[in-house]
Amino acid sequence: MMETATETHVSAKQDLFEQIEQLKKAMNAVILAHYYQEPDIQDVADFLGDSLQLAQAAQKTDADVIVFAGVHFMAETAKILNPTKQVLLPDLAAGCSLADSAPAPLFAAFKAQHPDAVVISYINCTAEIKALSDIICTSSNAEKIVRSVPADKKIIFAPDKNLGAYLIKKTGREMILWQGSCIVHETFSERKLIWLKTRHPHAKVIAHPECKSPVLAHADFIGSTRALLEYTMKNDATEFIVVTEAGILHEMEKKSPHKKFIAAPPNSESSCNCNECPYMKLNTLEKLYLCMTHRAPELTMPEALRAQAEKSLLRMLELSA
Ligand code: 13P
Ligand code: SF4
Repeated sequence: MMETATETHVSAKQDLFEQIEQLKKAMNAVILAHYYQEPDIQDVADFLGDSLQLAQAAQKTDADVIVFAGVHFMAETAKILNPTKQVLLPDLAAGCSLADSAPAPLFAAFKAQHPDAVVISYINCTAEIKALSDIICTSSNAEKIVRSVPADKKIIFAPDKNLGAYLIKKTGREMILWQGSCIVHETFSERKLIWLKTRHPHAKVIAHPECKSPVLAHADFIGSTRALLEYTMKNDATEFIVVTEAGILHEMEKKSPHKKFIAAPPNSESSCNCNECPYMKLNTLEKLYLCMTHRAPELTMPEALRAQAEKSLLRMLELSA
């Protein structure tokens, strides 16, 4: 007889892949996963994508339950778009340093100093910040969103100062930047990247725009996780140095098994896994299974906040259709 989960733990004898499949059917649930999740979670997901694709998938789904294998702001986004559906997150503590960098009261005071500015917020922010924003963007549509704002308007860009600086360079548009950053992308070292490039002179360097500008200066291609993946599939090169969270290597290797992917090293001299997001990695296959079994933790939010946050999010989705 197959063993089942007790309240808080999973038996080593359980076939979680099989049991998660059964739960999906029984609950009419969909599992949405980000590329930074552990490989087992990516493999069990119904849909794998970058932040924009995940928001679009959440908007379109007809499932009753959305199981979000990602971080808190991503599950919040799914809830904002689906007030009547149940949204589950395997670990509610899966946060984000960018979202944490912009507490709503401080941001509201900052915004009040520039009352005539249009507020563009990167999707990596809380529902409260989305509610204070005019339009949301992700790394895959940020340039388009910035260019959509009339030239005579001031822009506040929050919370990622590195993505903001990259967009200023790309569009030539001045913006007032909130000084947040991603702890993972901040950690990549230019010195170690140069060293890696000398050892792999034929490798293409591909980087996420959350990296600092001295690191981005060495990139052959810059883009969202999805754009980086597509680049590795289409480009003729057989070696790539990947300057983003190391979880994306799983799908890159699956899509191009004959190519070599080298995870860029973090700054630290220790053997830390600093190129892995500690928040993303809080989710495990076991927690995913347990959250479906217990229908908890569930993401909820006050309706007034949800409705206010939805406006800036829908504006982005309309512009990205
Ligand atoms: P994208 O998948 O949209 O590129 O975002 C990367 C990221 O840092 C998510 O937390
Ligand atoms: Fe946030 Fe960075 Fe982790 Fe993405 S990788 S969830 S931006 S801390």
